[in-house]
Amino acid sequence: MATDTASTPAPTDPLEPSAVPGPTFAVHDPLAAVPLRLRVNGADRPLVVEPWTTLLDALRERAGLTGTKKGCDHGACGACTVLVDGRRVLACLTLALSVRDREITTIEGLAGDDCALHPMQRAFAEHDALQCGYCTPGQVISAVAMLAEVDQGRPSAATDPTRRFAGRPDLDEREIRERMSGNLCRCAAYQNIVAAIRAVAAARDA
Ligand code: FES
Ligand code: FES
Repeated sequence: MATDTASTPAPTDPLEPSAVPGPTFAVHDPLAAVPLRLRVNGADRPLVVEPWTTLLDALRERAGLTGTKKGCDHGACGACTVLVDGRRVLACLTLALSVRDREITTIEGLAGDDCALHPMQRAFAEHDALQCGYCTPGQVISAVAMLAEVDQGRPSAATDPTRRFAGRPDLDEREIRERMSGNLCRCAAYQNIVAAIRAVAAARDA
C-alpha cells in the first residue's frame, strides 16, 4: 500500500535544540550585583553589592565609612567590629546582604548629634589607650557592646561559676580582659584599654 509521506510530519529528535522549548521566565544570574539598602548610623545607604560582598567591604569600599578597619579579614583580630542591632559582630565575616533591614552602628555613629565623643571614646583618649590607633575603632565598639552584655547579666568564661546568671557580673580586670579577648592590639595597649573601660564602667555606676 502506498504511504502519504507529504502529510506525515517527520519525527523530531528530542535532543535537538529546536525540540527544547525556550525558557518562559527570566534567568537570574546568582553572581550579579544587586541593589541593597543598608541602615547605618541611623541613615539609609543605598548600595549595589555582589552577593559575596562582606559588610566590612560594603561599609569601607561602597559607603565610604572607613572608620571600621580591616586587619586580618579572617575573623581573628576584631578590628572590623561593628554593632548590628546593638550586638557586636565581625564585619569581615558578615555578608552585607544578610544584614539588610538591620540597625548597623559603626565608630562614625557613636558620637552624639552634637559631635560630642561617646564616653568610651573620651575614656580611650584620657587613658592613652591607643598608640597607632588601628585597632581602636574595633576596641571602642566592642567595649561599648561588652558593657551592655554585662548589664544584661550575660556571663563570660571568666565569670565566677557560682555566680553565673546571678545578675550583673563583677567587672574586674579578668572579666574585662576575657570579654575583650577578641580584639587584638599589636601595639599592646591592653593595660590602658582595661583602665579606660573600667573608668566608663565606674562612671555609669556612680
Ligand atoms: S578584620 Fe575582621 S576580625 Fe580581623
Ligand atoms: S593601638 Fe596600635 S594596634 Fe592597637
